[in-house]
Amino acid sequence: MATSEHDAGHGGGDGPGEHGETRRDFLYIATGAVAAVGVGSVAWPFIDQMNPDAASLALASIEVDVSDLNAGESMTVMWRGKPVFVRRRTEQEVVAARDVDLSELLDQEARNPNVDATEATDANRAVQGREDMLVMIGVCTHLGCIPLGQQGDYGGWFCPCHGSHYDTSGRVRIGPAPENLPIPPYTFADEATLVVG
Ligand code: FES
Repeated sequence: MATSEHDAGHGGGDGPGEHGETRRDFLYIATGAVAAVGVGSVAWPFIDQMNPDAASLALASIEVDVSDLNAGESMTVMWRGKPVFVRRRTEQEVVAARDVDLSELLDQEARNPNVDATEATDANRAVQGREDMLVMIGVCTHLGCIPLGQQGDYGGWFCPCHGSHYDTSGRVRIGPAPENLPIPPYTFADEATLVVG
């Protein structure tokens, strides 16, 4: 199971702390979370021939306990060497994201492999039944910086490197980032367990 903690999306950790860090910027490494999911007797011989790094990558799937994540809180876990933002959105954040007309979006692609639809509506940025949870790869689509959460003109994420703003659905609203934050493959094993990969 993943080892993870969460930080509040609002309140105490807003500014740089005395050590120059912000609480929300901490990365919570999912140590021990790499699990061999769905590996059967057929898969092993093939995997076994790969070098260890490749094998690890091929199997990389993480379980994240989100039971402590309350509305308005976020956590960041590592998956395949990349930060993954997990946010349990407030009702207001979901409503704000749903109220956006597609024509206002810089990138109208959902970029969510978990849904069939391609339009970047808010519903298509999550999975059905868990629209409160936003799960995205936390790498700016401009040049790869890690955006800061609950910041920017749209209350979503802000990339300090060149000033891109993302909304509460992780869609880019002000560039230079060209695309919405991508969504990794994920499912919920149960109410409390997010499986990424
Ligand atoms: Fe994010 Fe350039 S890397 S705006």
